[in-house]
Amino acid sequence: MSKIILTGDRPTGRLHVGHYVGSLRRRVELQNSGEYDKIFIMIADAQALTDNADQPEKVRQNIMEVALDYLSAGLDPEKSTIFIQSVVSELTELTFYYSNLVTVSRLQRNPTVKAEIQMRNFEASIPVGFFTYPISQAADITAFKATTVPVGEDQMPMLEQCREIVHKFNTVYGETLVMPDILLPDNKACLRLPGIDGKAKMSKSLGNCIYLSDTEQDVRKKVMSMFTDPGHLRVEDPGKTEGNPVFIYLEAFSRPEHFAQFWPDYAGLDELKAHYERGGLGDVKVKKFLNKVLQAELAPIRQRRKEWEKRIPDVYEILREGSREACAVAADTLKEVKAAMRINYFDDDAMIREQEEKYR
Ligand code: TRP
Repeated sequence: MSKIILTGDRPTGRLHVGHYVGSLRRRVELQNSGEYDKIFIMIADAQALTDNADQPEKVRQNIMEVALDYLSAGLDPEKSTIFIQSVVSELTELTFYYSNLVTVSRLQRNPTVKAEIQMRNFEASIPVGFFTYPISQAADITAFKATTVPVGEDQMPMLEQCREIVHKFNTVYGETLVMPDILLPDNKACLRLPGIDGKAKMSKSLGNCIYLSDTEQDVRKKVMSMFTDPGHLRVEDPGKTEGNPVFIYLEAFSRPEHFAQFWPDYAGLDELKAHYERGGLGDVKVKKFLNKVLQAELAPIRQRRKEWEKRIPDVYEILREGSREACAVAADTLKEVKAAMRINYFDDDAMIREQEEKYR
């Protein structure tokens, strides 16, 4: 069986380093591993509209931001198909049919949707489209026969729900859809990178993000203002590394070669942590190191972004071509789905003959 990746992001803002370690960096590695037959990367504008219905311009503007972030991070249009969700109208058709296989109470149990409803104060008036977006996400995944969905931990409930839909569909209508597997980051720090203020999640509205497109100066400022262990008041004090954002970021970003290059006093992160925990190591030193590590990772991304920013028409062409290809693939799947559901009335000669027999 071919190995196919589908994943994507809502275009509601620029992508930040949480997106990067949670999924984007992995996608680039998977893309370059050559192990996958097809890779589809979707800009989920239709999903973004489920909770931004009154802000179409925001979604529109962020399509380009996300596309630039993708290309800058190293997604290569020669190897990965980057496309825009709303262009592939087959996805909404699939969503409509899959809706019959999902109950309201099942949707209400989805913990990510539950949390998002709370966060957006939707409790009293949940838009139906938002409530049902896990179904549309199942359409996104199955339309491309994805076997592998590399996403962050918050997407786990979506994958579970998708797998249930696949199972139900195949049980009711016969083996048609491919069962996808989730692929989570293997490093725990990457599962959910906290904001620079130590809050559990990076989010634009909290103003606690480091963006892939931030300037060198912005990144430095943000790193130097990061929360650390509040109990670590004097340099001599023993410090906590667990739950300490600076160390979580180092877990997510630092590699042994960064120590060799920037801080050869330590062989690696474990030694650095031990020193911090013993006491005698100040936060500023650790932050300066983190800044160097981050800059080393982000500099090539920033550089590529500058290049792509000079080629906006080419980026639109990449999206147009990717969307065209995505439409063709989704159309094939929709055809199979309709055949399985017995709603393919004109391309089934056997059925026409059968009806002919019946009325003879
Ligand atoms: N829900 C994802 C996000 O918020 C975006 C998304 C839409 C997606 N459809 C998908 C991710 C299908 C993986 C697979 O970022």
